Amino acid sequence: MKREGVLVIGSANMDLVISVEKFPQPGETIFGKKFEMFPGGKGANQAVCCAKLGAKTFFLGRMGNDDFGKSLSKNMKKEGVDIHHLLIDENENTGTALITVEGKGENEIVVISGSNMNLSPDDVESKKEIFKEVKVVITQLEIPIFTILEAARIAKQNGNIFILNPAPGLELSEKLLSLVDYLTPNETELELLSGISVKDEKSIEMAAEELLNKGVKNVIVTMGEKGAYLLSKERKEIFPAKKIKVVDSTGAGDAFNGAIAYALSNGEEIGKAIQLANSVAAFAVTKMGAQSSLPRLEDLELYKLAN
Ligand code: RIB
Repeated sequence: MKREGVLVIGSANMDLVISVEKFPQPGETIFGKKFEMFPGGKGANQAVCCAKLGAKTFFLGRMGNDDFGKSLSKNMKKEGVDIHHLLIDENENTGTALITVEGKGENEIVVISGSNMNLSPDDVESKKEIFKEVKVVITQLEIPIFTILEAARIAKQNGNIFILNPAPGLELSEKLLSLVDYLTPNETELELLSGISVKDEKSIEMAAEELLNKGVKNVIVTMGEKGAYLLSKERKEIFPAKKIKVVDSTGAGDAFNGAIAYALSNGEEIGKAIQLANSVAAFAVTKMGAQSSLPRLEDLELYKLAN
């Protein structure tokens, strides 16, 4: 069977977003500018990103039997994600995220995991036939770590390209890291994973090398407006970010990761994949919301963000 497309295993959250001029200090009460709700969750965001760019995309996750879950799954389906393998949890609410976005587009996020943390290794095992169909498997750290380990193990058995976006930051075992083809930390996550303080290019390189020593095949460090840094045994390169006015940085990392998964599923070489991912992430920060700001390929042309 010809393998194509991407399996995203991960979280879905309803994002409850308030826009403010400045973040409040601890103990301070401030007036916000507006309140909005957007579909989010790192897994769902990455799945919608892949699907909008044109990949055949499957999502494996857990949502509650509630209004947020219904609205999130409806939106994913509308955007072209195959949700036949979505599991409905009768005992937990759908995940939510409380997000504050300030005037310069920076955000603060608090996640209430709900049903996302009930996605079990057995759930993944019961869906292992999908791994045979797809080329790329991608996951993040908003679901239990044993579930991620099971996904990595089955992906290895099936010869998938396995991408781990280690967000939100968590220390990871060498057992898991040695199964990762592409690890995509930001600078904070890189510091946590490597145990090396990250402050400049030299320390980023040292920290990424530490992860290669732990068995990761390729490390891609996302560095915001400084771009992305690729390190593998064969290659070391910085890919500059596109210059853009940031409205809301929420989901920029998911846009980047979704685009990498899409490009690798199309057989693209990693340098080209990172250039596309930089464009997709740049587009995503120009609008409010995580999934609502993701582009189709033709949008990139329109906004002159294509390479
Ligand atoms: O990466 C952004 C996402 O993080 C948001 O959509 C929020 O739900 C949290 O999971």
